[in-house]
Amino acid sequence: MPRVKQFAFVVLGILFLAATTQAKFTAETPQKSGFVRLDRVTASRATAIGIEIHSGPAVLQITALRDDVLRVRVGPAGQLPEDASWAVLPAAHTSTVAVTAENSSASIGFKTAKLRVTIHRDPLELHVTDLDGHVIAEQLADRPIEYHGNSFRVYMKSPSDEHYFGLGDKPGPLDRRNEAFTDWNTDAFGWQESTDPIYKSIPWFVTFNKGIAAGIFLDNTWRTSFDFNKEYRDAYSFGAENGPLDYYILYGPSPKTVVQSWAWLTGTTPLPPLWAFGFQQSRYSYYPEAEVRRIASRMRSERIPADVLWLDIDYQQKNRPFTVDPERFPTFDQMIKDLRAQHLHTVVITDLHIADLPNMHYKPYDEGTAGDHFVKNPDGSTYVGVVWPGKAVFPDFTQKQSREWWGTLYSDFVSKGIAGFWNDMNEPAIFEVASKTMPDDIQHRIEEPGFATRTANHLEIHNVFGMENSRGTFEGLLKIAPDSRPFVMTRASYAGGHRYAATWTGDNSSTWNHLRQTTPQLLNLGLSGFSVAGADVGGFAGSPQPELLTRWLQLAAFQPIDRDHTAKGTNAQEPWEDGSPEDLNLRRRYIEERYRLMPYLYTTAEEMSRTGLPIMRPLFLEFPGAPSDHQAIDPTISNEFLLGHDLLIAHSPYPDEMDDLFVSLPAIGWYDYWTGAHIDGTGTRKNIDNSISAPSGVHLHRSLDTLPVYVRAGAIVPQQPLVQSTDEKPEGPLTLRVYPPDGFNQDCSGSIYIDDGISYAFRKGDFLRVNFTCRITPQGLIVAVTAPTGTFTPWWKLFSVEVYGATKPAIEASYSGLDGSGVSPISTSYDQEHHRITALVPDNGKGMELKLAY
Ligand code: GLC
Repeated sequence: MPRVKQFAFVVLGILFLAATTQAKFTAETPQKSGFVRLDRVTASRATAIGIEIHSGPAVLQITALRDDVLRVRVGPAGQLPEDASWAVLPAAHTSTVAVTAENSSASIGFKTAKLRVTIHRDPLELHVTDLDGHVIAEQLADRPIEYHGNSFRVYMKSPSDEHYFGLGDKPGPLDRRNEAFTDWNTDAFGWQESTDPIYKSIPWFVTFNKGIAAGIFLDNTWRTSFDFNKEYRDAYSFGAENGPLDYYILYGPSPKTVVQSWAWLTGTTPLPPLWAFGFQQSRYSYYPEAEVRRIASRMRSERIPADVLWLDIDYQQKNRPFTVDPERFPTFDQMIKDLRAQHLHTVVITDLHIADLPNMHYKPYDEGTAGDHFVKNPDGSTYVGVVWPGKAVFPDFTQKQSREWWGTLYSDFVSKGIAGFWNDMNEPAIFEVASKTMPDDIQHRIEEPGFATRTANHLEIHNVFGMENSRGTFEGLLKIAPDSRPFVMTRASYAGGHRYAATWTGDNSSTWNHLRQTTPQLLNLGLSGFSVAGADVGGFAGSPQPELLTRWLQLAAFQPIDRDHTAKGTNAQEPWEDGSPEDLNLRRRYIEERYRLMPYLYTTAEEMSRTGLPIMRPLFLEFPGAPSDHQAIDPTISNEFLLGHDLLIAHSPYPDEMDDLFVSLPAIGWYDYWTGAHIDGTGTRKNIDNSISAPSGVHLHRSLDTLPVYVRAGAIVPQQPLVQSTDEKPEGPLTLRVYPPDGFNQDCSGSIYIDDGISYAFRKGDFLRVNFTCRITPQGLIVAVTAPTGTFTPWWKLFSVEVYGATKPAIEASYSGLDGSGVSPISTSYDQEHHRITALVPDNGKGMELKLAY
């Protein structure tokens, strides 16, 4: 090589090194940076996994974590923010893929196997498309990223037909379009549809446009904000008042892929104990002990299936966490045992505010003080705030050792047999101050792998405090009982908090619009990772009219968590209260239906714990291509949802009105869950070109006694005989409700997953999974059951195969074992009212095939 060229290489090498070292990382949050505008590219450098760009003093780095997941980070003064996260899993955090640089005179960028990133040089504009050219995220022209001091904002174009979902528990419509939100965890007693913020901060949303989905996650725990088409009709934006500009773009194209990638980034929800899916009864507050015992006995004598009783703050001595009031609960330990003997698990509240009781032999205070575990004022003294116990102090949950200490507080309660724990008020809620929370300058200590060990003020920690509280509980319980699945319920959280706790929507009200609100709220929570979620059934503030309670109990029977809860001073709200005998029958009937569906619900929960797919799903998640113009189906019909893959619940949007109701159904075949009749929701609405317009569906005459539920054609739904709690072993056959597909060669499947419901033995193979399929033949139908995987012993010995949509009895039926045990004829029965043919087939544990001619 000639000397001149060699020299040029050396110079280039030095320049390259200089550029690489320029992007230093700082452990601190960004320094005050004045006004910075990232409006044109002044330097750039391709890297093996992305690109680094300079715009004046600012640095912008885009890396590919996967071919379909990008991370964008900005440092306004040339240094990237601390590379740490409370939300993102370490494996995702360090994941990278190689990219191919793509430059032109006007732009720079790169491509992965799925995405193309183009940055226009002047003005600086980011465009992300898929390889077919579909826009995934595109910076709004003339609105470059700007910093004003430490605050920043990012603007993206928003086509008029794009819709937005997620952002956790925020009330309002399912579609976030035309709304603006702030993330700042807030104790929001009596919140309404327009209240914002409420309890959780999940700065993550899904974009959906013409069947193509993506997701954006702003990983920033400070006060963040989101604006969908309010400031600009044609843009959405997100920003924060401080902290890192560190965001992720997750590409689908299917919405399911986006949600699963969210689980890849922030984790899945661990499989909860089976009993968590049973009916749960709560009240602020059940006391004294005799009242708790009365509720338990009444639950059983009324034959309302149930699994859980909750104890709210009044079981404690003067509202002091981790105490029991011996006067109100004279035989507390025995009571927990007696409830257990009645097949009821007890969940107790354990709020994070430790009563400020020096020299009173109050263990949490004494140990916490000795271990230096409490949050401090700027002058180094312990911060004291007033909550339920009066003056209280607060564990420093961002400090690993304080979380570990917190976890040890549970050992007494666990040894008493208490099954689950409730972390409430962890925004954190503080009484008697206008801000309803700790002062901004409270000092928290961060001691966490991945983070620099440092002190941070409350503004940075506020939104993650509740999540780290529930994490301390979850991890503590696992240490105490490593083979028992913890059940923790938290009110406040941050992105990724679903790894530690279930949640609920806080202090709602006993009104029809709050019943309606449960659907969008639980759906958006599910899309945000919090799939194990519920709303207080019957409403927290106020007392429901009998019909409202009945309808609420009907609907909640099909939601992930089914917990009846109400405030102190309201009317009794248990299912047997305040209604006619007909109300009680209906309430019981729907709870019973939940228990019959338990195999389906638990199988869906297990799928969730593996894949991140929510239990309760918006329609566009399962039907992204419906309707035919590929627009999201849900924004126009926000009262419907899917429970798992196959059940569609069409709650009336205005349940207090008695007009007829039109139920929109995705344009495939459906069956009425209650009558078993096949519904032709598609036939009537064909366009001239034979495509199907939205909405297809059915007209219904409303009645109090029927919540419209539909099953998709091609589903096989497992059901069990009725039990009074999940403790009880079902007696009788496993029912397979078979809903034949609409034609030959169309999918028909289902599955069941069972295990001991309580331990982690399933991780060592002690579970049972059986898959079912069906196939239409010219003669009728073939239903096949695969040989099971796993070692868990099933509770059934027989399958009751129920084929729906049948308008006449079977002509003949036979079954054969998949182990080659030969063909045996079998008798069937026909039930005209429920449009079903039933065959009872023995299960020899090796799989079988049932042939039906009809
Ligand atoms: C909060 C909770 C509520 C609970 C009450 C008393 O308001 O949201 O569910 O009953 O505190 O602990």
